[in-house]
Amino acid sequence: MEGNNRKTLLITGASRGIGKAIIEKFAAQQFNIAFCSLQEKNVLALVAELKNKFPDITVLGKAVDMSQRESVKAFGKEALAKFNHIDLLINNAGLFQPGMVHNEEEGQLEKMIETNLYSAYYMTRSVIEKMKEKKAGTIMNICSIAGLKAYPNGGSYSISKFAMQGLSKALREELKEYQIGVTTIYPGAVLTDAWAGVDLPEERFIDVQDIAESIYSIYCLSRRTVVEDLVVRPMLGDI
Ligand SMILES: NC(=O)c1ccc[n+]([C@@H]2O[C@H](COP(=O)([O-])OP(=O)(O)OC[C@H]3O[C@@H](n4cnc5c(N)ncnc54)[C@H](OP(=O)(O)O)[C@@H]3O)[C@@H](O)[C@H]2O)c1
Repeated sequence: MEGNNRKTLLITGASRGIGKAIIEKFAAQQFNIAFCSLQEKNVLALVAELKNKFPDITVLGKAVDMSQRESVKAFGKEALAKFNHIDLLINNAGLFQPGMVHNEEEGQLEKMIETNLYSAYYMTRSVIEKMKEKKAGTIMNICSIAGLKAYPNGGSYSISKFAMQGLSKALREELKEYQIGVTTIYPGAVLTDAWAGVDLPEERFIDVQDIAESIYSIYCLSRRTVVEDLVVRPMLGDI
């Protein structure tokens, strides 16, 4: 078992975009990091970058398809074996495919639910017992404004994020008595690869650093307080 006295962040789907920005923020605060993403080359690149920038922390990076239940559970187990306890779990892995319920490709709902919802469900269950034992820990679920308000072309993505809101709220109620805080985060449009090819000025989007900063400031509040819901939107509103 490794881990020293540092706190550990476990975050999923985090080689790029929102996840990577969060990792950089917490690594700079000397957290140990366990993360996964889909493509091994992206995992290896981020591990190398973190080792170079933050040589004192311990990093576990792994290529994991978060839509696969057994792979999710195996990664949770491996992270716990390495770090013993997860202080902060951020369920971030997510896939956006535009579509409409009435005519999107068959199978899209299953794909969104597996990647965006079951991933968080199984990862949480993998690490939660240790948090309950210690009566310590925080879980943050990266949902979306698509989980608050449906819109045309949201389709199955929106369904999966409404469901994730449900997961997050159930966990909040269940875990109070264990002093484990649960936060649901609902970002509007954030400038990441998910928006590649969209012809809009960057000023229309939330800066990915602002998501990382908000999450870090919520995490730093006293243990007497939980931010249950955080809605973050571009200054000019939704796209
Ligand atoms: N961007 C937005 O406007 C926005 C708004 C609201 C909510 N969100 C949510 O925020 C989260 C992150 O979004 P993002 O925009 O940062 O995404 P992104 O830039 O498109 O990056 C996606 C990340 O997730 C990983 N990933 C994709 N499928 C995966 C799978 N099956 N298993 C494991 N990892 C997987 C990718 O891995 P590889 O790098 O290895 O390919 C990548 O690291 C998602 O849950 C998304 O729904 C985003």
